[in-house]
Order: sequence, then structure tokens, then C-alpha cells
Amino acid sequence: MVWIPNSGSAWSSTSASDSATSARIGRLQRSGPEPQKGLYALRMIELRGGRVDDIDDVLALWARAEAEPTVTDDESALRVLLRHARESLLLAVDDGSVIGSLIVGWDGWRGTFYRLAVEPSRRRQGVARQLVDAGEAQLSALGARRLALFAVEGDPAAVPFWEAVGYEAQTDRQRLFENLASA
Ligand SMILES: CC(C)(COP(=O)(O)OP(=O)(O)OC[C@H]1O[C@@H](n2cnc3c(N)ncnc32)[C@H](O)[C@@H]1OP(=O)(O)O)[C@@H](O)C(=O)NCCC(=O)NCCS
Repeated sequence: MVWIPNSGSAWSSTSASDSATSARIGRLQRSGPEPQKGLYALRMIELRGGRVDDIDDVLALWARAEAEPTVTDDESALRVLLRHARESLLLAVDDGSVIGSLIVGWDGWRGTFYRLAVEPSRRRQGVARQLVDAGEAQLSALGARRLALFAVEGDPAAVPFWEAVGYEAQTDRQRLFENLASA
């Protein structure tokens, strides 16, 4: 099943400069995992492009997030990605720790998202929403007009999240794939 933005939902109105992956974004977040009702603290998280020295942290995040493993969850694949398009690896960083990731793919025709994952202790604080907003703005600035992704149906948060941010299932398509033998 492929997920695409609802036709009614506009892409983020964030300007291209706002979407700079190094922009610092402030927002209201819960101050801890079990906050007192109504108690909030202003926290800053940074959205920035990934670097080679983030690779270990990103792989560790994916393991902790229990994101369904793929054949490209390794250092060499991430090095290839960063060499190909450094801005494709978008990270949410809090106080130096990588707490979220999104791969933002652009092939000149479609925008595609991969590897959206958020640190388990930092969920439901809008981190994924901020990553997707920034990814959409990045793709829109590049000229993308249609975005898609594959949501893991077995992950309880995946489909509700993508629906909440305006994507809908495209049920008349099947994904076909082949894993190439490693070089
Ligand atoms: C899916 C995931 C990335 C969401 O990250 P997140 O930072 O918690 O998401 P957000 O806080 O931005 O959520 C935005 C909205 O999505 C919806 N949502 C998010 N998680 C949800 C859940 N577990 N159940 C129902 N709705 C959910 C809610 O509407 C939420 O808004 P609200 O908190 O105001 O109700 C995270 O749960 C995760 O890393 N899961 C494991 C990996 C995975 O499934 N990745 C997606 C693969 S396609």
C-alpha cells in the first residue's frame, strides 16, 4: 500500500529558507514522559542534515525505535546515501542526541520518504510531524508535486501517524521489489 498526501492537504507553507535543515525549531513539548497535566516546558530541538559521524547514532536509533529492519540498515548504505545527497538524511537532534530521523528522497519526479523513526521516550511530542513538515518543504522547494511512502502496516503507530499528517492510502497499487545481490 502506498501513502500519498490527501488532495485536500496543502504541502507545508514553510518557506524554503525556513526548511533549511539546520534551522532550530522551538515548540512546546511535554517536560517529561509523565508530566503533570498542563505542565509544559519550552524545549528546542534542532532539525539538521545528517553527517557521516551521525551514522552510528542513526542505526542505534532505528534499533531502539524497532523500525522494521531493511537490507540497507547499515553503515555502507548510509555512506552511499550521504555521498549521493547529504540533505536526504534529515535528523531531529536534542541536546546533541539524535531523537528522530527521516530520509527525504527526490529523484526529479517523485518525493519519497523512508526511515521515519522517533526515539520511543520522545513520541507524541510532535517530533515526527516536524520532520515530515521539513521534508515536505524541502521537496516542495525542489519542485516535487507528489509525495509517497510505504507505511509498515504491522507497526501500530505508522498508519495513524501518516493519516494524522494528511496522507491517504492508495489501494489500487502494489509494491514490487527486488533486492540486488550485494556487490
Ligand atoms: C510513527 C512515529 C514515527 C511517530 O512519531 P511521533 O513523533 O510520536 O509522532 P507525532 O508526535 O509527530 O504524532 C503526530 C500525530 O500522529 C498521530 N499518532 C502518532 N503516533 C500515534 C499512535 N501511536 N497512535 C495513534 N496516533 C498516533 C497522532 O494524531 C499524533 O498527534 P497527537 O499526538 O497530537 O495526537 C513513531 O511512533 C515511531 O518511530 N514508530 C516506530 C517506527 C515507525 O513505525 N515508523 C514509521 C514507518 S512508516
